[in-house]
Amino acid sequence: MYFLSFVSKGLVSVPILAMMATQVLLIRSVSSLNMTNSYLNHKCLVSQGKYKPGSVHEKNLEAIIHSISVGENVISGYDMMSFGEGQDLVCVILQCRGDSYGSKCRSCFASAMAGLRRRCPRDKGGIIWFDQCLIEISSTDTVGQLNYDDSLCMSNAKNAGDDPFSFIMKWDTLFDNLTTIAITEKNKNLKEATKPALYGAGEKRLGRKRKMYGMVQCTDDLSIKACNECLVHSILQFQNCWKSGKRGARVLGRSCNFRYELYPFVNAKTGPNSYLKS
Ligand SMILES: *[C@@H]1O[C@H](CO)[C@@H](O)[C@H](O)[C@H]1NC(C)=O
Ligand SMILES: *[C@@H]1O[C@H](CO)[C@@H](O)[C@H](O)[C@H]1NC(C)=O
Repeated sequence: MYFLSFVSKGLVSVPILAMMATQVLLIRSVSSLNMTNSYLNHKCLVSQGKYKPGSVHEKNLEAIIHSISVGENVISGYDMMSFGEGQDLVCVILQCRGDSYGSKCRSCFASAMAGLRRRCPRDKGGIIWFDQCLIEISSTDTVGQLNYDDSLCMSNAKNAGDDPFSFIMKWDTLFDNLTTIAITEKNKNLKEATKPALYGAGEKRLGRKRKMYGMVQCTDDLSIKACNECLVHSILQFQNCWKSGKRGARVLGRSCNFRYELYPFVNAKTGPNSYLKS
């Protein structure tokens, strides 16, 4: 409105105004959803040792990185590749957040892989978490295994200010419901979805004005049973991190992740299954 009335008075040329308006709109729509893709955390798996520059191990890693970045699997939001044998075995797993497949997943892979290699130079093993994806590099095949050792919790320092009892009740219901969605609903973005999406997102009213927004996800290499186990385990393992009623928290793991905030942070429309409104 402001820009339009400006234009009609002819104070500034239309193309520049249109450009400015577009930029403002873009910035607004991104920040209003909080759809950022920031670096969150990483862990160098130093016990796996380092590879030498120019080694077969490094070449195997480079080959996998190239294949994943040009490959089509990012369309589904998950990719896994392993290459080499013995000492030179390299296994890379990429899991993008349920609402971030396709080009978003591809670009998250590029940033996260660069970030991991910079932070854990020449380590054979490492995990990095971004808002929209996680990557694990490993010198062993970790596909399908539950990993509880490399998880961590990050929480908002501020409290939500709700009655803790009612906050926890609502939290439990929301996460119970999201876990059910994750392990039962089929991935509607895939033509031949046979397996649940292992991703659930949604919101729950906290009071008249506020809502709690949540998301749970397992990496796609897990079975339904393992996914359920991972979510239940992580929720219990980290309850001290947020159950005092924090405004938001996330648990980052190799096998499963979850997050909640008092503001929306996933795209409700692009998820692989229905977005819960409760
Ligand atoms: C976006 O996220 C920040 C915290 O990072 C929060 O303070 C803000 O309220 C959020 N914006 C909206 C519109 O939800
Ligand atoms: C959510 O979970 C609660 C129990 O925790 C259950 O009573 C309710 O029916 C569930 N709602 C949905 C939409 O699944």
